[in-house]
Amino acid sequence: MRLVFLGAPGAGKGTQAKMLVEQLKIPQISTGDMLRKAVADGTPLGKEAKSYMDKGELVPDSVVIGLIKERLQEADTENGFILDGFPRNVSQAKELDSLLGDLGKPLDVALVLDVPFEDLMKRLTGRRTCKSCGQMYNIYFSPPKVEGKCDVCGGELYQRADDNEETIKKRLEVYQKSTEPLIEYYKNKGILRVVQGTGDINAIYRKILVQLNPVV
Ligand code: AP5
Ligand code: ZN
Repeated sequence: MRLVFLGAPGAGKGTQAKMLVEQLKIPQISTGDMLRKAVADGTPLGKEAKSYMDKGELVPDSVVIGLIKERLQEADTENGFILDGFPRNVSQAKELDSLLGDLGKPLDVALVLDVPFEDLMKRLTGRRTCKSCGQMYNIYFSPPKVEGKCDVCGGELYQRADDNEETIKKRLEVYQKSTEPLIEYYKNKGILRVVQGTGDINAIYRKILVQLNPVV
């Protein structure tokens, strides 16, 4: 199953992708996670990316396309993958189509998680992530048992640098302008599926499985 996850910042792409990874045994490929790792490692690519990410802008296409090209050639993508946060604009989507065309592995589904804009700010400002195991929490919707500590491993929770109100506003603007047109792009290709992304996380997951059912 070769899947693209679409949806605004905070729509729950990462949350749901992690659940699918367990079930489908295919990797989640998140350009956001790859870029944050490069920033944390202090690589030249990370240094370049950081200035864009801190402002809530997209990192240049050439940088992310380079990352994705390498990643999609790794052996664990043989049976498919979940792209989370890529593509982010029509030119990235075209590059992806051409890359997957060359590999003879076109996309099966582009799935949009649809969440009203007014819900996203609270989801993003409330998000906390475990430094050690990556488990995600939300101080408003799914808080940890002990403040600041991970229920799973006891690790410390942190807040993403771009999860502040000003940067979130910019990310939402960029989403509407650059990423939302991809909904039409994949609709025209006949592979778009839409799932309402509000309510209980497990209920949303079940709706996603229903949408993927003819394919998985
Ligand atoms: P990226 O890391 O991709 O962030 P994003 O798109 O802004 O998406 P998020 O990770 O914020 O949201 P999500 O949908 O995964 O939500 P989550 O599941 O975490 O990108 C960051 C930056 O990197 C970009 O701004 C850009 O600079 C750069 N970048 C990345 N990819 C790029 C690309 N391809 N091209 C150029 N630049 C790129 O959930 C959010 C919160 O909500 C959590 O707390 C969660 O617990 C909670 N939650 C989830 N589901 C529910 C629910 N049903 N009800 C209540 N709360 C919920
Ligand atoms: Zn943890």
